[in-house]
Amino acid sequence: MKKVLIIYHSQTGNTEAMAKAVAEGALAAGSNVTMKKAVEANDKDILGCDVVAFGTPNNFSYMAGMVKDFFDRAWPIIREKMANKPYVAFGSYGGGGMPAIETVEKICDNMGMKRLFDSIGVQRQPTAENLKACEELGKKIAEA
Ligand SMILES: Cc1cc2nc3c(=O)[nH]c(=O)nc-3n(C[C@H](O)[C@H](O)[C@H](O)COP(=O)(O)O)c2cc1C
Repeated sequence: MKKVLIIYHSQTGNTEAMAKAVAEGALAAGSNVTMKKAVEANDKDILGCDVVAFGTPNNFSYMAGMVKDFFDRAWPIIREKMANKPYVAFGSYGGGGMPAIETVEKICDNMGMKRLFDSIGVQRQPTAENLKACEELGKKIAEA
């Protein structure tokens, strides 16, 4: 059974709603899903999963501080062990697009991780359609 890990931060619930939809999709596809707030996630979590989905709001055109904190803590331990680890990213922004997602992608790509599918960025609160896309993403990463 594929182990799907979702690491996310959400201040006002928008990214969290997306994270839950990704989780639902992955669960429906029969995978083992763990959702972790970034502040609670660590190197063992990411080393122990088969695929990871990162969720972050766009804060000051960057990933949320808590997601950066996760990378700050885990990166020294995981950096040489992430080659080809599949990942995707998603998140919510106010009006400035998704530079936050790009900052996550940059770190993951630099570690040699494999981006499985295009990231999903939505403006503020995800619509039903946005959530469906997140669910589909969860399904696809579980089946990839
Ligand atoms: C401290 C802070 C900084 C923000 N900076 C930006 C920004 O630079 N660009 C942008 O588009 N939205 C910005 N936003 C808006 C959030 O990205 C947006 O409200 C998002 O939907 C929040 O997602 P969440 O509910 O998962 O926390 C900022 C919000 C906060 C609280």
